Amino acid sequence: MSVLKINNLHKEYGRITAVNQLNLTIEAGSVFGLLGPNGSGKTTTLGMILGVINPSAGNFSWFDESMETNSRQRIGSILEKPNFYPNFSAYKNLQLACLIKETNEERISEVLKQVGLFERRFDPFKTYSLGMKQRLAIASALLANPEVLILDEPTNGLDPKGISEIRQLILEIALSGKTIILASHLLDEVQKVCSDFAILNYGNLIYQGKVDEGFGDEMIIEIASDDLELLEKVVREYPNYISHKWQKQAIEIKFSASTNASEVNKWLVQKGIFLHHLSIVKKSLEQQFMEILDEHA
Ligand SMILES: Nc1ncnc2c1ncn2[C@@H]1O[C@H](COP(=O)(O)OP(=O)(O)O)[C@@H](O)[C@H]1O
Ligand SMILES: [Mg+2]
Repeated sequence: MSVLKINNLHKEYGRITAVNQLNLTIEAGSVFGLLGPNGSGKTTTLGMILGVINPSAGNFSWFDESMETNSRQRIGSILEKPNFYPNFSAYKNLQLACLIKETNEERISEVLKQVGLFERRFDPFKTYSLGMKQRLAIASALLANPEVLILDEPTNGLDPKGISEIRQLILEIALSGKTIILASHLLDEVQKVCSDFAILNYGNLIYQGKVDEGFGDEMIIEIASDDLELLEKVVREYPNYISHKWQKQAIEIKFSASTNASEVNKWLVQKGIFLHHLSIVKKSLEQQFMEILDEHA
């Protein structure tokens, strides 16, 4: 069952195409990662599916309904950061959020417990760490008990402890049965918390798949040395070796995705083998994404 269908969604800002003819389906229960470098169109996409940015063309439908129905109540988001009052406690801030969202207050304690802020609920917001502030924003997004939670770069600016707390929280929220749509420029974030993902680059969807299949993929290189028999024997001992096959004057080797070609070369040199040929037959998705990031750096 899908929660969201996006059809040819398109956004132009003057001459900039922020999102280019995007087609995407998001399944219920998934933690969907929208992965891409800065400026690739993630926030624009989230803004459009939340109805806060007008698409130039295309459409989308939530829960097989149009946005005009009350489906907005079924979606929580931290895209539009709630304005928390610094001198008010977390509890009081959430009371105000309930007033604005027109939801009753019965879930305040529950969401505070869920994000680990219940003990601190009467402390003023301004005394919170950045991570706590972000968790309160998530709590606020959960107040109306939405089916879908949309998070834009949820760990930006946080320290390592804050980052791991937020990621853990995202996984727990997913376990409670909610669908999560998360935008991130961090490959490892998507690998750690998402079940499915899509890669955006300059507004174009360039890859879509499941995280365990996508990043579990392999890279293939072709290598040759003077003594191919010896090379065949030694390369099998390489830690990320998966399999190999003979080519005409070379051996084609499959490695797990965490390998890079120069590491293989270095390792072989240390074993006394000097390659006179090395070419990459297939790059892993991880390498491809890293190159996209370099391109934008
Ligand atoms: N309000 C706007 N006016 C003009 N250009 C914009 C606006 N919002 C975003 N853009 C441009 O659209 C592209 C995509 O931006 P954005 O969706 O924010 O990317 P991301 O969230 O992936 O970093 C960028 O080139 C950005 O500069
Ligand atoms: Mg963004």
